[in-house]
Amino acid sequence: MTASVSQPAWVAAPGRRPIRVHKIALRGLATVRFAELPHSAKINEALIAAFGREQDGANVKRTHMFHGRFENIYIPAERLPEIAPVSAFARDVATRVLGRTDLRCGFWFNAMSPGHRTTRHSHEENDERLSAVYYLACPADSGRLILHDEAAQIIVTPQQGLLVVFPPNLPHEVEENRSETMRLSVAFNFGPAN
Ligand SMILES: [Fe+2]
Repeated sequence: MTASVSQPAWVAAPGRRPIRVHKIALRGLATVRFAELPHSAKINEALIAAFGREQDGANVKRTHMFHGRFENIYIPAERLPEIAPVSAFARDVATRVLGRTDLRCGFWFNAMSPGHRTTRHSHEENDERLSAVYYLACPADSGRLILHDEAAQIIVTPQQGLLVVFPPNLPHEVEENRSETMRLSVAFNFGPAN
């Protein structure tokens, strides 16, 4: 008996017509990208302190009340010079992903105390092109990010200094914070400048 190599199933056999399928529902995972901010520890330390300083300021807005918590905390950028290294980093990533520099950027904080979670949502409120989340403080077991694609879940274990970039229309949520300290992240939306 001699060994033989069988022809791969996806190659049409000689003399046979290939199978013609007119409608193929080809599905795949949404594009989720990751980037790490260099030297993030000191940057995050300063921004966490600034968040504590400004979170109860007069012009701070809170939206998306679920389970007794406002999930979105909007602090005016002019009150937060400490966010500059993070927003510049996120903008640089967005510029590379979208291939354009004329971008406007909005941001908000998500502060999850122990026992809190973030409900499933997407970021399709305006003409957003790209969304991102950056992690400032995420102790062990403080909640994974779960992105819901049509065909699968993309589950991200956060770490401080990590930026996760994803399509604005991709539904996502955060698991319950089962640690004993606050989980803090800042989210970004990028859209065309005009
Ligand atoms: Fe979100």
